[in-house]
This record gives sequence, C-alpha cells and structure tokens, in this order.
Amino acid sequence: MTLCHIAIIMDGNGRWAKKRLLPRVAGHVRGVKRVKDAVEYCINNGIEYLTLFAFGRENWARPEEEVSFLMKLLSEQIRKEFYKLNEKGVRIRFIGDKSRLNKVILDQINDIQNVTSNNTNLKLNIALDYSGTYDIIQAVNNIIKDKRQTITEQEFEKYLLTFPDPHPDLLIRTSGESRLSNFMLWQSSYSECYFTPKLWPDFTKREMELAVNWFKTRERRFGRTSEQLKDS
Ligand code: FPP
Repeated sequence: MTLCHIAIIMDGNGRWAKKRLLPRVAGHVRGVKRVKDAVEYCINNGIEYLTLFAFGRENWARPEEEVSFLMKLLSEQIRKEFYKLNEKGVRIRFIGDKSRLNKVILDQINDIQNVTSNNTNLKLNIALDYSGTYDIIQAVNNIIKDKRQTITEQEFEKYLLTFPDPHPDLLIRTSGESRLSNFMLWQSSYSECYFTPKLWPDFTKREMELAVNWFKTRERRFGRTSEQLKDS
C-alpha cells in the first residue's frame, strides 16, 4: 500500500496544558517538538508529502493573546528551524488565505518558500489561515476570473491551493475528536482517516509509526469491490 502523503490535524495542545495546570500556550510550545518529530519521521521513512494544519481560518476567533502567541511561535520556527530543513532538502510551502497575516510573517513565508522551492526530499505544506471551504471558494473565484463555462474535476484540481501535490493517503487527527474541522475537504475524499485519543504534544514518532502501521492494514478500494482489487 503506497503511502505518499500524510496530513495531520494537530489537536489537543490546550487540553495537554490544562491537564498539567499550565497555560494553553505551553501546549503549543510542546506541540512544536512533535512537529519536528513528524517531519523527521517523514524524511527518515521516505514519505514524500506532509501537510500540517497549523492555524485554521476559524482560529482567528481565539483570544487575541493566544493568536499572537501562535503567530510568534510560527515566526520563530521559520527563522530558527525552517532554514535547517532547507539543508535537509525539504520544500516548504504555506497554504491558506494569508490576507490577515502581518507583513513580518508574510515576508518570512515568501522567503522560505523561495529558498526551498526546488527541494525534492520532503514536501512540507503548512496550512496557515487555511480552511477547506476557503480552498474551494478561492478556486471557484479564480475559475470565474478565467471566464470558464464548465470544468472537469481534473481541471478544478489545478485551482486548489494544494496543487500539484497528490491527495493525502493518510489523514491523522489527534485528541480524540473524529471530525475534519474544515481541513482539506476536497483532497480528503479518499484519505484513510486515523483518529487517536493521544493529544498532539504526546504524538511521538512511535505514535506516528502506529498510525502508519494501521494505514498499511487498510484496503483502499476507491469505489471498487474487494474482489476486483484481488483480480487486478
Ligand atoms: C490545536 O490544539 C493546535 C493548534 C491550533 C495549533 C497548532 C500549532 C502548533 C503545534 C505549533 C506551531 C506549528 C508549526 C508548524 C511550527 P488546541 O489548542 O485546539 O487544543 P485543545 O483542543 O485541547 O484546546
């Protein structure tokens, strides 16, 4: 079973912190360690694409201090860690609306995207100010701008923020929730979804391995029957 693209909804940072009587942001700080683990896991195991849901469009509704902490954390990670990933041949791309991001972070994003654009080792997408419905609507608006009357699914794909990456094979959500929360709605149409009670700050490389092992047991039929797959 080919595993080319893993997408992760990193959830449970706040609860992890609350359980330890720490401020919510302490959970985000610990969550960064797990981001590093996930990236390393993918590099070491030949996974070609990793998409991480770092900040959803709906997350702007959080308390102002938490939003600004998350933006600072991200900005610090780009500055301190993402250039190291460049040395490891990682292509970094940010997907999302970006219109509400401040200029400092926007400049950082543009620079790291340019610097890493020709890398081919791991393709890392950070979903920032992203939502699946936004992704689809921005595609539709660009299609209208292009004055197209009809469109095929294959052509529609080209307008999505994730193009030209393949759809996720495995979609992981931590923290016991079993919903997609507006993440990659079109692209997850045939993803295998792995829901684990582990909170994101506890989602170590071992946990990632468990998710991958689970994925390997799945039979992906893409609408066909089991018998058809065995015959082919
Ligand atoms: C969800 O937990 C997590 C987030 C909204 C932020 C995720 C960000 C990071 C892990 C750090 C920065 C990322 C990168 C790519 C360097 P929650 O706060 O919703 O947890 P809760 O549901 O328990 O409250």
